[in-house]
Amino acid sequence: MRIGFAQFAPVLGDRDATIGTIDRLAPQFAGADLVVLPELCNSGYNFTSNDQAWETSETVEDGPFVRYLCDLCASSTLHIVAGINERDGDRLYNTSVLVGPGGVLGTYRKMHLFVNEPDFFTPGDVGLPVFDLPKLGVKIGMLICFDWVFPETWRALTLQGADIICHPSNLVLPGLCQSAVPTHALCNGIFAITANRTGTEGDLTFTGLSIVADPRGRVLCHARGATDEVCLVDVDLADARDKMVTPRNHLLRDRRPEEYRLLCEECL
Ligand code: ACM
Repeated sequence: MRIGFAQFAPVLGDRDATIGTIDRLAPQFAGADLVVLPELCNSGYNFTSNDQAWETSETVEDGPFVRYLCDLCASSTLHIVAGINERDGDRLYNTSVLVGPGGVLGTYRKMHLFVNEPDFFTPGDVGLPVFDLPKLGVKIGMLICFDWVFPETWRALTLQGADIICHPSNLVLPGLCQSAVPTHALCNGIFAITANRTGTEGDLTFTGLSIVADPRGRVLCHARGATDEVCLVDVDLADARDKMVTPRNHLLRDRRPEEYRLLCEECL
């Protein structure tokens, strides 16, 4: 299976300009089964008003950006995971969509909102779903940006059988996530794809350096810096299904959940 990311700078408030950027990168998706794009691709990130957040949102069912992604996947094996500013009724969610040749296959709504995101978005309310893609023989989980810092999210997706965790991002803290993701991949025995954005919006500079990490915690490929870049790599999903750490140690069966009760309690 060929997987990877496209790293670029979505344009705040200008969906069509962002689509132009993706159009320029899309020829490099040829032969890919799964490409992850950054967080909030249809809108940009650093809204200057509630009106701007609202006007740049769309529904999953008939949003123009989601339709554009579905069209990119038509008549191929390509699947795309991308962050969008989702409108549902009178609420906005920081959402990730999974689309393929047949249309929308799944969504996830960011649970852990960062800094001033709660001024615009409702925290995710659909849990941590895992989506089975039988044609590709893979199970996909999604996290969004700041979710990375919560190890429980990676574990919850792993326990549901995720082979690959896709992680659309708009990272601003230099290097922290990019150094942690390979360890999340290692501790859960999964592939992880962090697709980070680049560029500057107001006082925020996004850090690029997108990565694909494997179940042994190795970085299989990474962006060279903070420029537009597509990276693809061939992976063997068997590596994510072999959870043996040593001949006598299994990553999941050796856990001691009865000793971890604090993890399920409200806070300290
Ligand atoms: C982030 O969660 N966008 C840093």
